[in-house]
Amino acid sequence: MENKYILDLLYLIASVTFVIGLKMMGNPKTARNGNLYAAAGMGVAIFGTIFCHDNEVSAIIYTLIFAALVIGTIIGWMTAKKVQMTKMPELVSLFNGMGGACAALISLIEFEHAVAGNKGIGVMLAIVLGLMIGSISFSGSIIAFLKLNGTLAKAIRLPSYNMLNNAFLLALFAMCAFMVFGTGASTMALYTLFAMSLIYGVLFVIPIGGADMPVVISLLNSFTGLAAATGGFLYGNQAMLTGGILVGSAGTILTLAMCKAMNRPLSNVIFGAFGESSGTESAGSSTMKGSIKDITTSDLAVLMNYSKKVIIVPGYGLAVAQAQHIIHELEMILEERGVEVKYAIHPVAGRMPGHMNVLLAESNVDYGKLCEMEEVNPEFTTTDVVLVVGANDVVNPAAKHDKASPIYGMPILDVENATNIIVNKRSMNAGYAGIENELFYNPKTSMLFGDAKKALTALVTELKSMA
Ligand code: TAP
Repeated sequence: MENKYILDLLYLIASVTFVIGLKMMGNPKTARNGNLYAAAGMGVAIFGTIFCHDNEVSAIIYTLIFAALVIGTIIGWMTAKKVQMTKMPELVSLFNGMGGACAALISLIEFEHAVAGNKGIGVMLAIVLGLMIGSISFSGSIIAFLKLNGTLAKAIRLPSYNMLNNAFLLALFAMCAFMVFGTGASTMALYTLFAMSLIYGVLFVIPIGGADMPVVISLLNSFTGLAAATGGFLYGNQAMLTGGILVGSAGTILTLAMCKAMNRPLSNVIFGAFGESSGTESAGSSTMKGSIKDITTSDLAVLMNYSKKVIIVPGYGLAVAQAQHIIHELEMILEERGVEVKYAIHPVAGRMPGHMNVLLAESNVDYGKLCEMEEVNPEFTTTDVVLVVGANDVVNPAAKHDKASPIYGMPILDVENATNIIVNKRSMNAGYAGIENELFYNPKTSMLFGDAKKALTALVTELKSMA
C-alpha cells in the first residue's frame, strides 16, 4: 500500500480513538482508560506522520525530531507525575500555552511556503488565524499560569481597559483581513500580527482576577483547539483537524458549563473583568444574625453512628487538607454500621472541573456513591446528618435569595434541608467568593473547627472506639 493511504488509515484510527476517548472521559469510571485510548491514538498519529511519507528526510532531522520527542516526553511525564491535585489548573494552563505556541510556530513557518507557492485565500486564512489564535492562547495561558501560582496575584487594569482591549481585537481582525484579502501578506506584516496577538493575549487575561482563571483557561483551551485545527487544515492532516475541533468544542462546552454553574454569563468573561473580590478567602465580617455553635468529635461520632442516612459534601478544603482517604474510611465505617452514606458533588466544588470526582477516585470511593447536584438535592430532606467538609460557597443559601450577593443565582446544594448540618473548616474565614455564609448561623448547624484531615481522623478514631 502507498504511504499516503497508510497514513490516511492511521489518521482515521487516531481520530476514532480521540472521539471514543473523549466520550469515555464523560464518566469517572471510564475516564482513565479514555485518556489512555486518546493518548495511544495520538502516538499512532505522531509516529505515522514521522515514518509514513514519501519525502527525503536526512538523519539529522530524524535525530532532532526524536531528541525533541524524548525531551518533551520526559518533562511532560515528570511534571504530570509530580503535580499536586490542587495545582492542576496551573499545569493545564502551561500545557495549553505550549499547544498555542505550536500552532503559532506552524503558521510562522508555513507562511513563507504559502507565499512562495502562491497558495489561495483559504490557506492564507488558516495561517493567519492559526497565528493569531495560537499566539493569544500562548501569552494568555502564561499570564493565567502566573496568576494561579501567585506571581501575578493582582488583577492589573489599564484605564478603560475594556475599550482598549476591544479596539485592539478589532485592529487584530483588520490586520488579518489586510493580509488575507488585501496586499499585506509580507513577512513584516506576519511578525507584526504575531507581536500584536501576543500583546492581546496579555491584555485579555491580565485584568481578570486570579480566582476566575479556571474559566479563562478552559476558554483559552478551546482557542488552542481551533488554532491546532487550522494546522490540520494546512497540512491536510485529518488527525490534527479532528483533534483540534474536539479540543475546541469540548473547551467551549466546558467553559459554558462552568459559567452556568457559577451563574456568570460568558460575555462577562470575554468583555468584562470579573472575580475582582474573589479568591481572597478574607475573614468574614460579623453582619450575620444568630450565633455559632460548635460540636465535639465525640458528640458527632454518636450522632453519625445512630443516623440512618448521611450525606457528605466535599469542597476545596478537602483537597487542601488531602483528606480524601480518611473521608473514605469514615464512609466505610458508617456503612458497616448500617448507615447509608452518599457524597453530594457540586459542579464547581473545588477549583477545577471534576476536582472532587478526581480527588475521591484517588481514595477508591465507589463512583455509585457520588451524586450530582440535581440528583441529590431532593434527598436532603430525608437526611439525618449532612457533613460539609471544606466547602463553603457551594452550600451558601445567599445564592438563592440575596440579590446583592456575588453568587446570587448560582445553583447550590440544599443542605439546609437536612435534620442536622455539620460544617468542618478551620475558622470562620470566607471561601473563594470572599463572602460570609449564613448557613453557619442556622440553628440546625454545628461547626467542627479544624483541619479536615485532623478533624476526620479524630472522628474516625472516636467511631472505632464506639464499636
Ligand atoms: P470555597 O467556597 O472556596 O470554600 C472552601 C473552604 O474550605 C474555605 O472556606 C476554607 O475555610 C475551607 N478550608 C480550607 N482549607 C481547609 C482545611 N485544611 N481543612 C478544612 N477546611 C479548609 O470552596 P467550595 O465550596 O468548594 O466552592 C468552590 C468555589 O470555587 C466556588 O465559589 C466556585 O465558583 C469557585 N470556582 C470553582 C471552579 C471549579 S471549576 N471547581 C472554578 C473557578 C472557581 P477555612 O479557611 O476557615 O478553613
